[in-house]
Amino acid sequence: MPMPESQPEVLPSAAHERPGPVPPAEPPSGSDPALHPRILDPVLQVEELSLWYGETRALESVSLQVAARRITAIIGPSGCGKSTLLRCFNRLNDLVDGVRIAGDIRFEGMSIHDPTTDVNLLRKRVGMVFQKSNPFPKAIYENVAYGCRIHGTRRKRELDEIVERSLRSAALWDEVKDRLEESALGLSGGQQQRLCIARAIAVEPEVILLDEPCSALDPIATAKVEELMLDLKSRYTLIVVTHNMQQASRVSNYTAFLYLGRLVEYGETERVFINPMKKQTEDYITGRFG
Ligand SMILES: Nc1ncnc2c1ncn2[C@@H]1O[C@H](COP(=O)(O)OP(=O)(O)O)[C@@H](O)[C@H]1O
Ligand SMILES: [Mg+2]
Repeated sequence: MPMPESQPEVLPSAAHERPGPVPPAEPPSGSDPALHPRILDPVLQVEELSLWYGETRALESVSLQVAARRITAIIGPSGCGKSTLLRCFNRLNDLVDGVRIAGDIRFEGMSIHDPTTDVNLLRKRVGMVFQKSNPFPKAIYENVAYGCRIHGTRRKRELDEIVERSLRSAALWDEVKDRLEESALGLSGGQQQRLCIARAIAVEPEVILLDEPCSALDPIATAKVEELMLDLKSRYTLIVVTHNMQQASRVSNYTAFLYLGRLVEYGETERVFINPMKKQTEDYITGRFG
């Protein structure tokens, strides 16, 4: 009689992990435990990624795996490369002159730098929300419908459905449903940021990148966006850059600490905040520098 397959060891993280048959990515043996958490179902794999702006190196051999349908926070002092790393995931740095990249990122196993990669499709699948909310100076409806029009959806009925669904997903529908034809610029800062999230959701991405999405918002608007992120992670993979340590610990499942372009520590958020393995991480999260 064949032996039953052994069950994977249950780690403390198991409580918030999605159950399923996907084999977990085991940390490479002999690897630094401060950098290699056990990631179930990695959707993005960063492999020894370095990036230079001209002569200046902004990222140095960063390797990490991003878990599907979880929130990964990227923290670190200003200028350490957080936004640069975030922009690598959908190749937004391609638009910057003089950028050179070494290493790779795999998205569902495929290199995003492969010559056959359709960059427009990549940016549809990996959407972006910026620090300063940037709605188009158009009607609320148009802001959400825009991406779908670009990608070829023309029928009014279909667009109406997408707009409503996206605004509902972004927890904004009830606030704007009676003013869809009014300018998006008349919304409050927090509403504008949720509108930008609705716009990102409308084209049905798999991953949403958020670069300090709350740094221009008041505490109430911030709480709404955080609540929204927690809600979205059941359907999307979120990567959020934040300089707000409380935010990282409140919302994220995994935290990456970058310093001077290098990944110093990466692990489950609770572990990183309660039991940092590197002195630099501890100094940063306890506010000794940064
Ligand atoms: N477009 C650019 N051209 C040249 N240098 C850049 C550019 N963008 C960022 N940098 C530099 O790269 C480093 C990392 O920047 P960035 O990723 O924006 O850091 P963070 O988001 O952590 O504040 C900084 O030294 C910054 O000055
Ligand atoms: Mg930044």
